[in-house]
Amino acid sequence: MNNIIDLRSDTVTLPSDEMRKAIASAKLGDDVFAEDPCVNKLEQKAALIMGKEGGLLVPSGTMGNLASILVHCPRGSEIILGHKAHTFVYEAGGISAFGGIHSRQLTNQIDGTIDIDEIKSAIRMDNDHFPKTSAITLENTHNLCNGSPISTDYIKDVAQIARDNDMKLHIDGARIFNAAVALSVGVRELVKDADSVTFCLSKGLAAPIGSVICGSEKFIYHARRTRKALGGGMRQAGIIASAGMYSLDNMLDQIKEDHKNTRRLAEGIGEIEGLSIDRESIKSNILYFDIEKGAKRCEQLARQTKNITVYPFQIALDNIRFIESSPDRFRLVTHYGITGDDIEKTLEAFHKIVN
Ligand SMILES: Cc1ncc(COP(=O)(O)O)c(C=O)c1O
Repeated sequence: MNNIIDLRSDTVTLPSDEMRKAIASAKLGDDVFAEDPCVNKLEQKAALIMGKEGGLLVPSGTMGNLASILVHCPRGSEIILGHKAHTFVYEAGGISAFGGIHSRQLTNQIDGTIDIDEIKSAIRMDNDHFPKTSAITLENTHNLCNGSPISTDYIKDVAQIARDNDMKLHIDGARIFNAAVALSVGVRELVKDADSVTFCLSKGLAAPIGSVICGSEKFIYHARRTRKALGGGMRQAGIIASAGMYSLDNMLDQIKEDHKNTRRLAEGIGEIEGLSIDRESIKSNILYFDIEKGAKRCEQLARQTKNITVYPFQIALDNIRFIESSPDRFRLVTHYGITGDDIEKTLEAFHKIVN
């Protein structure tokens, strides 16, 4: 990698030489005819890992969430989701644009959960005036809530509410492996009560493209047709699946390293006067920190970051890139492209600019 320390997202990773070799030697076929051996193998492996009957490769996490929700929610029905859910905030309103699905946003608590009683009281009664509440979605880890992992006990409680009310539970598990590592539980445990899960190959697992959705055979049957309708039926998709397979076989240990690097980053930021960080809440590979209100010594950081904006909300400070998620609030994400040395250099740069 070049000397840019890119902490904007774990989506910026480039494939390793070994991954490129796996891609180059992939045996291919037409996946729309279900004939790509790599895709079939990846989908079976993903289903096995998640403890579900089937898996389906999709080009992105966004399409994974969209296809899943379109399967669960008829047009005009309602889905409960957190007000900070990626599906609600960052997916271009796809569920309403393409599915005519009404979103009921409930407050995400600091740890990414939604209050259980609020969920119960948001479920619509059967009455002509109301849309039917068809599904609920949880995000694990929760991107906008400090990358918080959501516990199995909480998911179990939400799944019970869904079952009791003829609703489906979808998990946006873009970073479900990070959640599993953070909580020291198996991913299968984390998703066992969900009707569907999307997980991303192209985030902490460092593949260039792709996500997989998993669920029952019936769910996958419908999701496959929905994926086609969305333009996500890909042909020799083994090019993508072989990288994904390499990730599942080789990249899981990287996540532990990323979490360690994030903890070190959080510790260092916590020592810089004028920056504030809630270290307790940082449990995975995402951290947020703020410039304290009125912190004079940080004015220069604020000025620097605003002057050298590469693109709205993308920040370049020396050779370090990160994101300003809201005014004076910044996000840093660790990943395969970031070393322990990069973390120290980042901290040095932050120290320099506020001292
Ligand atoms: C929690 C979460 N879900 C879904 C997505 C969407 O993934 P993609 O960018 O592959 O569409 C992201 C992307 O960062 C994400 O953070």
